[in-house]
Amino acid sequence: MRNLRSIGIVAGLALSVSVPALNAFASERTVPPAPALFPAEGKISYVPRDSILEFKALPEYHEPDWVTQKYVKTGKLPPVKDRLPKEPLVFKTANMPDGIGVYGDTMRHVIGGRPEGWNYGAGQTQGWGGIDIGLSECLTRTAPLFQVEAKDTEPLPNLARSWDWSSDGHKLTMRLIEGAKWSDGAPFNADDVMFYWDDEVVDPNVSPLNGATQETFGIGTTLKKIDDYTVEWTFKEAFPKQYLYAMAYGTFCPGPAHILKPQHPKYSKNTYDQFKNAFPPEYMNMPVMGAWVPVEYRPDDIIVMRRNPYYWKVDEKGNQLPYLNELQYKLSTWADRDVQAVAGSGDFSNLEQPENFVASLKRAAEANAPARLAFGPRLIGYNLRLNFSANGWGNPDERGQAIRELNRNDDFRKGVTMALDRKALGDSLVKGPFTAIYPGGFSSGTSFYDRNSTVYYPFDLDGAKAELAKAGIKDTDGDGFVNFPAGTAGGKNVEIVMLVNNDYTTDKSLAEGVVAQMEKLGLRVVLNGLNGTQRDASQYSGRFDWLIRRNDQELTSVVQNTEQLAPVGPKTSWNHRAPESGEVDLMPFEKDLVDIVNKFVSSEDNDERASLMKNFQKISTEHVYNVGLTEYPGALIINKRFSNIPQGTPIFMFNWAEDSIVRERVFVAADKQAKYELFPEELPGKPGDKGPMD
Ligand code: GLA
Ligand code: CA
Repeated sequence: MRNLRSIGIVAGLALSVSVPALNAFASERTVPPAPALFPAEGKISYVPRDSILEFKALPEYHEPDWVTQKYVKTGKLPPVKDRLPKEPLVFKTANMPDGIGVYGDTMRHVIGGRPEGWNYGAGQTQGWGGIDIGLSECLTRTAPLFQVEAKDTEPLPNLARSWDWSSDGHKLTMRLIEGAKWSDGAPFNADDVMFYWDDEVVDPNVSPLNGATQETFGIGTTLKKIDDYTVEWTFKEAFPKQYLYAMAYGTFCPGPAHILKPQHPKYSKNTYDQFKNAFPPEYMNMPVMGAWVPVEYRPDDIIVMRRNPYYWKVDEKGNQLPYLNELQYKLSTWADRDVQAVAGSGDFSNLEQPENFVASLKRAAEANAPARLAFGPRLIGYNLRLNFSANGWGNPDERGQAIRELNRNDDFRKGVTMALDRKALGDSLVKGPFTAIYPGGFSSGTSFYDRNSTVYYPFDLDGAKAELAKAGIKDTDGDGFVNFPAGTAGGKNVEIVMLVNNDYTTDKSLAEGVVAQMEKLGLRVVLNGLNGTQRDASQYSGRFDWLIRRNDQELTSVVQNTEQLAPVGPKTSWNHRAPESGEVDLMPFEKDLVDIVNKFVSSEDNDERASLMKNFQKISTEHVYNVGLTEYPGALIINKRFSNIPQGTPIFMFNWAEDSIVRERVFVAADKQAKYELFPEELPGKPGDKGPMD
């Protein structure tokens, strides 16, 4: 047994078997087996944080020639130097993998989501897949930090060009980029920032898309305007530098106050619903600070975005970015995104659904393959989340309430996790070295992961049944499914409704696997499969017993969305929130988790932070806070004609690859440019106008 560990590499795939897992009695807790190596992992070359960008004026500025000819010379647009801020954001050439680019071409995305509208700050999705990332600019930016050594990591400046802490660490003064404009030419300033804060984040009737609340920035945190280009934060803790991450995508990306404010109930006769829906998908040319502006929408067909003539970032030669004139978003399915990217009819995919791995790898290995495919670290994972609110979040009925009580029972969760055959779950998605045993907690690919702090209860069906019995649920009527005790929910079979996102094959496969495995345990689970938008709505309002959730940044980066690790505020956790009125009813071990997160946020000592997170991992996996299902690496698929794609870009870490590759710097060399632009030589029109400028 012992030497199994040293069994070597077979056909390039390492088979690794953990000794403790084999020697221990199945039901004894242990650490998860060491994950197998997988082929083709791209290597990242690390760079210092300050080598990426700076803010400064350049002697001259340039734009695509057709913009000068068609728009500036005809007086439709001011000259480029007058459209740029005094000191634009300058990307340093040395950090650009292929250097200064040329203008032209488009990136053809394919997505499975559908747009609800353009009011991101009021909670509307644009269909994901990086559309909103291309429209939004945020106070800070974190996606490119995957290439910065963890010890050097602090968010990059963006709309906030610099910041200073007061000597006691309770105040943070941020200077905004000066003289930058929205894509319609209106000035960007502190009023936009304050509208987002006061009327979207702090206003309890509005929930921005990625769920920012005041607590996202710390309990009691306030923000005020000092002047047009300065805002000041006040925090209860001293030096909570962690919140600089919350000021990045997707929790601090202000929308255009000059367009939004007149529709907000505080300044109009609108209801909150009318405000939210004031900018439906058909509304074109919504002003943005991002590099591209939506100019065309055809339902279930396509969204087209054209270059923002007021974009405030340049390269070192003074070329206004982006290099790509257009972004296309074909409205299809997520699985089709992989298929089209490898086939060359699409340009980009985050290969994240293992069901497509084998076919994609095969196609990408062919000599004439149109796209590159490169795996990153094992950062895509799935958890089963249990609704822990026993005091009314989502208004459960008697059955639902009884499930919440079970979810809060340690023996019950242990039974559930021990009944999961994770090897079988992983293999049902894809055979081979990709998927790994994942008990829950942090992804094994993050720098904060520590295997020895990870508690794993191995697969053991008999042991699992004994745990359910300890939790007081037995099959009293002999139909194979455990019942509630007499006196609870009528002593009926325990029936759990599990929320799942129907837009993804992987989510559905995992959900079906869980249902089948729970059936062997004697636990009846029924699926509530909804499309992404409806699913999110059910989750945010607490209408679920269990849910399948793809891991978010708090588990893949730890520093991004840290507040989502535990219920540090009434609405920060995915599966444990406060009811309309009331507080989060924390379990004792959750209080420990909340304390750890709060300490982590206010600590500046890297060693202390690492040890806090080891402890977090230990407590959360020991108590089965999330029930891990599987984890595996994702691969970036990108058409070979694109330049400036950093090597080894993970598809997900601080943010999705659509942001990590820094699309505004991506270009297509002149001899590789294709004629894919749908609106060549067109620029966005006025807000609300149909289509581009004429
Ligand atoms: C969806 C996709 C991801 C990524 C994000 C970007 O969630 O599944 O791969 O494209 O959108 O927001
Ligand atoms: Ca029964």
